[in-house]
Amino acid sequence: MSIQWFPGHMHLTRKAIAERVKAIDVVIEMLDARLPGSSANPLMAELTSGRPTLKVLNKQDLADPERTALWLAHYNAQPRTRALGLDASHTAPARALIDACFELAPLRGGMVKPMRVLICGIPNVGKSTLINTLKGKRAAKTGDEAGVTRTESRIALADDFYLYDTPGMLWPRIVVPESGFNLAASGAVGRNAYDDEEVAWELLAKLKTDYPTLLAARYQLGLSSEAVAAAPEEDLLDAIGRQRGALAAGGKVNRQKAAELLIADFRALHIGRITLETPTQFDAWLRAGLAADRERDARKHGLREKGHIKPAKKTSAAPTRKRAAR
Ligand code: G4P
Repeated sequence: MSIQWFPGHMHLTRKAIAERVKAIDVVIEMLDARLPGSSANPLMAELTSGRPTLKVLNKQDLADPERTALWLAHYNAQPRTRALGLDASHTAPARALIDACFELAPLRGGMVKPMRVLICGIPNVGKSTLINTLKGKRAAKTGDEAGVTRTESRIALADDFYLYDTPGMLWPRIVVPESGFNLAASGAVGRNAYDDEEVAWELLAKLKTDYPTLLAARYQLGLSSEAVAAAPEEDLLDAIGRQRGALAAGGKVNRQKAAELLIADFRALHIGRITLETPTQFDAWLRAGLAADRERDARKHGLREKGHIKPAKKTSAAPTRKRAAR
């Protein structure tokens, strides 16, 4: 699957973040609790150059609570990092965020040394929703203040606590193929950028092993968990298509329609609370993705040396993965 998802203006966002980070005490990185690893921008570590980080696992109402607990423990064990789960039902999340930031940067505070926090996350992770809740009545958007660029805004959460908001930022290339599928399934990637059937296929491969009971119950598959886990994805997609009435002429399952229904059901919580990756799984994917990337770079370098290919373009797409190769 190829995902073209890095629009030109992202370079501007990246520059703005790099500039702002110089006068920042804590970075709040918003992640999607259903795919914390995949929704983390790999550029952030480089851009924030070791600043203390608060990982907010947002949309936890959609995620598997047991896996959210695993991710929180995973992040909380990292140096200069705290993590907390959040969702839009929290009507007053400011206190938890402020407290966590002061834990990370205890020497800040007061009018002379106010806490300066940068909040970032990929598009659709729920940043605007959270910021609107945080703004409430008291905090004001002060985008026209000196030093606040047009690509960001400053929100005062308290007299000595400033939150700098940046536009959602993507990264140029997805090196972990599983992340591409998970981002697409979650709705972080625009519809035109991926193939529904491929995404549904990968989603089914995960659901049948990790959540077979939920899958069987939602689509009345009439199979045991073991039987669901052992069933080929084609059969499962066909069963879902039949159950949901996604049929073409002659009674054949319309797989495109069935795939769309499955993805929509997943996003709307109709299957259940699901998290697409654990820290251990993501770590293994990341290692494999980085190794494949290094090989690819070495191969390209070799071809370039021999004059077989021209220098690389700046923007490129996610790696392609064929069903058969899974
Ligand atoms: P962004 O600024 O990071 O791009 O995201 P935004 O706040 O616009 O939120 C994206 C979508 O996610 C919105 O749905 C919003 O309601 C939903 N959302 C935000 N926080 C939560 C949460 O904690 N839990 C759940 N379940 N949903 C949340 P939307 O307006 O319906 O847009 P869309 O889903 O049609 O894109």
